[in-house]
Parts: sequence; C-alpha cells; structure tokens
Amino acid sequence: MKYLMSANWKMHKTAEEAADFFKAFGEKIAKKPADREVLIFAPFTTLEAAARAHSSNPCFELGAQNCYPADHGAFTGEISPSMLKASGCAWVLAGHSERRSIFKESEAFVGEKAAFALNAGLKVMLCVGESLEERDSGKLNAVLEKQMREGLANVAESFAPDSIALAYEPVWAIGTGRVAGKEEILEAHAIVRKFLEERYPSRGKEICILYGGSVKPENCAEIIGLDNVNGVLVGGASLKAGDFADIVLA
Ligand code: PGA
Repeated sequence: MKYLMSANWKMHKTAEEAADFFKAFGEKIAKKPADREVLIFAPFTTLEAAARAHSSNPCFELGAQNCYPADHGAFTGEISPSMLKASGCAWVLAGHSERRSIFKESEAFVGEKAAFALNAGLKVMLCVGESLEERDSGKLNAVLEKQMREGLANVAESFAPDSIALAYEPVWAIGTGRVAGKEEILEAHAIVRKFLEERYPSRGKEICILYGGSVKPENCAEIIGLDNVNGVLVGGASLKAGDFADIVLA
C-alpha cells in the first residue's frame, strides 16, 4: 500500500515563500521511494505558484484546505471545487479540527462539502479526531464513528479507495508538540479501519488512513510503521522544506 505524506500549511506562506519551498523541496526528495506520494495542502493565494512548481517537477499533488459546496454563486469569500481544479488542485481537506472548532463547521456541513467536492472531481481527505475531554470520558469510538458516518454520509463506494483518505488527528496532539502514543494511534486507526470496511465492504480496506498531530522528522518512521497507518498529515513541521523532505523520506 502507498503512503500519503501530506503537508497542511494552514495560514502560512506567501506565493514567493511557497515558490522558494518547492525549489528546495524538489531537490531534497529527488530520490523519493515510489510508494511515497506527497500531497501539499496550500493556502489559496499560493496555488498558482504551487501549480507552476508542479508543472516543472510533478513530485507532489496539490490540495486546498477548504472549499464551499456549490459550483458558483453569491457566497462571498468562498471558493468552489471547480475553481480549485482549475487552479491545479487534485485534493481538498474536509473536517479539519480547526474548521470544526474555530469556524463552527457542523458534521452535516463537512459531509455536504466532502460529497460535493468528490462529485466535482476532487479527491477528499476527511479529518476526524477527538478532544482530550472526549477521550478522557471514554467517547473516542463514538466521536470518531459519528464524524465518519456524517462526513461520508453521501459518499459512494465508487470513490474508494483512491479519491478518499481519512486523517486521524487527535485534537490534543495538533500543534501541541504532544504526539499520540503508539497504543493510542493503533486503537484509533483500528476504529477508523473497521468503520471503513463496514461502510465500504469491497474497498474500505484499501483507503489510506493518515495520522496527524505533532509529526516531526524524528517520530515519523515509527508512526508510519504502525498497523493501519498509511501516511501522515503534517502542520508545523511541513513548513520547512528540509524538515518535510526528511518526513517524506523517513
Ligand atoms: P501539527 O498539525 O503537525 O502542527 O500538529 C497537524 C494538522 O493540523 O494537520
């Protein structure tokens, strides 16, 4: 199975900074093993620079961090999946915990977005994860299942495995420096895999499940060596070309 080594730049980098990143990054991952696919979820204003970098060195696939579930219309400040495709994006994130908590996106809205983006021809990485309170009160299973049930409610099996990826990102591990332990990752990824196999009986076992939350060059190899871990989604440590290249090659 392939590994999806993914960067989520969040609200970082100008177009010029993105161009500098790609120049350095492309050189550093020239010897990338064939089973490592690189995805970069970049801010909208860097997509043009990223698409240019992609056309001279297609060592990564480009993704956006958000979209609105409509093709066009009076939605001030929003971007449609077709606009993203036209800007060179193959992927889009849905359900990142920052969108859920800061921007109050509901589970139903995340599901609507995921289904719309897939039907418009983008691949979707659905992010799920529990807060510390939810984990401490024994709700891990219920929280992940609900996020997946609603997030994939209208997503047909025909999109699996290649157009869907799941990212398990415990909220308490995002940007905190506190990476989840081996047992915690194994437990959560087994829950995600079981759900996917039940939801998509013939293809669920092939959908990539990524871990995200304080992944660094030093801990990446151990994480991707775990059962049911098919890649990583990296925030802070993806901003420097050298660090992210070390992660991709870990
Ligand atoms: P982090 O972010 O690697 O900075 O913890 C991960 C994410 O939010 O995707």
